[in-house]
Amino acid sequence: MDIGNRLFRSALLGLAGNRAARALSQRYGMKLGARRFVAGETMEEAIVQAKRLNAEGIAVTLDFLGESVSSLEEAKTSELGYLELLRTIEREGINGNISLKPTQFGLALDRTACEEGIRTVVKEAARLGLFVRLDMEDSPWTDSTIGIVRKLHEEGYSNVGTVIQAYLYRSGRDVQAMTANKMNLRLVKGAYKESRRIAFETKQEVDDNMRRLIKARLDSGVYTAIATHDQSIIRWVQSYTRMRAIPRSRFEFQMLYGIRNPLQRSLAKEGYTVRSYVPFGRSWYPYFVRRLAERPANVMFVVKSVVLRK
Ligand code: FDA
Repeated sequence: MDIGNRLFRSALLGLAGNRAARALSQRYGMKLGARRFVAGETMEEAIVQAKRLNAEGIAVTLDFLGESVSSLEEAKTSELGYLELLRTIEREGINGNISLKPTQFGLALDRTACEEGIRTVVKEAARLGLFVRLDMEDSPWTDSTIGIVRKLHEEGYSNVGTVIQAYLYRSGRDVQAMTANKMNLRLVKGAYKESRRIAFETKQEVDDNMRRLIKARLDSGVYTAIATHDQSIIRWVQSYTRMRAIPRSRFEFQMLYGIRNPLQRSLAKEGYTVRSYVPFGRSWYPYFVRRLAERPANVMFVVKSVVLRK
């Protein structure tokens, strides 16, 4: 990533946490171009998209958008929303699971209450035979997110896993420890603004670490979700697993809803497990801004969609 791109990304990611901008976006609704990355504002809209993807051979993970709630009442609303989502997935026969953010369950307010809310969701998912992924947010929450997942594992819930971000220096150690405990992980490059004290800055360094982490997991045999749109990494995974005769049942590719759709379809056709991350809900703003920050061209796409509507 050159210096211009890094500044652009940093400025946009600063906007992701801005409450005034979030409120403004809510007023303009999905007209800002968010519909390309977000399945809709309601669960019904998300289920329609999940069924469409399933029909194309693509599994889903549904994310009821929300993060950094400011009260425990809001956290409770998230919990109830996710319980309804789990029951809907089961009732509608969706090939899918769920992804949630710990700060949506009040991690920043009360760790115990957050853990209890997540436990309720994981327990219901276990009853329904479904899996729960705790997304990884920015670095103040890394330890506590891993801590919650560890605790739930110790309590016997094997239907829960989390995410490791290749841009953090610590991730090699985290992967090693969690692999020893046979935890299901999703590997990503990392989407938040982090200081260079704790995170790699250049694309090359992040990509190299992503490959190291993927290799460690594939060699270990513990189930891994490789979440990237980076075709050079995907091709490398395909040739590495062929060379080492690693069965396709040990890993899956994941991509975000609306990004690289033809690639998602072609991998699924080739017989790989592909899962699309399908976000929905009214609180789409921070998620949307992170998608813009990943690719400068997306900002032009938004500008065009706003201008063309007028
Ligand atoms: P990279 O950024 O190098 O992009 C490779 C290519 O993919 C680009 O050249 C472009 O063509 C395409 N591309 C990438 N992003 C795009 C975009 N927004 N719009 C259009 N094209 C794009 N992060 C995190 O910190 N915590 C988490 O829990 C998760 N969860 C998660 C789940 C899933 C299923 C995915 C795919 C990603 C995440 N992420 C995440 C986000 C992740 O950290 C990362 O920011 C994005 O995946 C972009 O990085 P790539 O690996 O795609 O590579």
